[in-house]
Amino acid sequence: MSIIYLNGSYLSDGEARVSVNDRGFLFGDGVYEVTPAYRGTLFQMEGHLGRLRDGLAALRIDFDPSGLPAMHAELLERNGLTDEEVAYVYVQVTRGAAPRTHAFPKVPVAPTVYAFASRYARPAPDVWARGFDAVTVPDRRWGRVDIKSIALLPNVLAQQAAVDAGVMDAIFVRDGVAIEGAHSNFFAVFDGVVVTHPHSNLILPGITRDVVIELARGAGIPVELRPIFVEDLARADELFFTGTTTEVRPCVRVDGRPVGDGAVGPVSRALFDAFLETVGEAARAPIGAGSPTP
Ligand code: PDD
Repeated sequence: MSIIYLNGSYLSDGEARVSVNDRGFLFGDGVYEVTPAYRGTLFQMEGHLGRLRDGLAALRIDFDPSGLPAMHAELLERNGLTDEEVAYVYVQVTRGAAPRTHAFPKVPVAPTVYAFASRYARPAPDVWARGFDAVTVPDRRWGRVDIKSIALLPNVLAQQAAVDAGVMDAIFVRDGVAIEGAHSNFFAVFDGVVVTHPHSNLILPGITRDVVIELARGAGIPVELRPIFVEDLARADELFFTGTTTEVRPCVRVDGRPVGDGAVGPVSRALFDAFLETVGEAARAPIGAGSPTP
């Protein structure tokens, strides 16, 4: 049994109740965030808060998230997760409960705020070192993928396609471009240059993505923000995903075809090592010091 947060209270998950009129339940009308914590220290909380603020503003949901870092810390504490190597806190904010009409309720209602904390199981080093397979799926999502909406049906179907194929990840493809993963951002390495899709309405502006881009640049690895064409995947030296529940994950086969020589490459390895170093430093920083930007 875990302790969750719901609208100002900490409850056991079994006793928490949300209205059947909640617009998150009826319409997927809400946004969410997933923030990692390394040995109890929230990592890049400001970035996650900023993205949540942007999503709330885009959906015109009136909620001030400035109290979330304290609530996140409390949830980790109450669930005994402060010593975990990696944990994460999921929070979602929906427009609230109101009789079903598509437009916003005429009389504003209080948003519903729900959060839980969980442990994250990083793949064992030998598993990571062998790399992972992925499949491509058509990207049929809406045109505001940059909003971290809780309406994730295409992502659910994409990830299920990966599960059905017996692989780890799915890559969304739109107009011949490999956009991002079902729950992660996507990178390629061509001749030593790290490439990932530019910021746009077609990708989620991943917090881990930004960290990894900075780490690459800091290590002198050139980074280009441009589309990755599916027809170019065959000549990529390396591919990898980034995300809060992905960290840096090498992809060694797409749709059954090996990437490069089919082994995890040096750039993916170097960036994962640098990432682990960065989150390790964040975890060693004093509580309240925030997350260092690499
Ligand atoms: N997903 N792209 C998509 C579609 C995502 O859902 C996510 C994260 C990312 C990576 O963003 P970040 O680095 O900020 O975690 C990219 C979360 C973890 C989820 O849905 O559980």
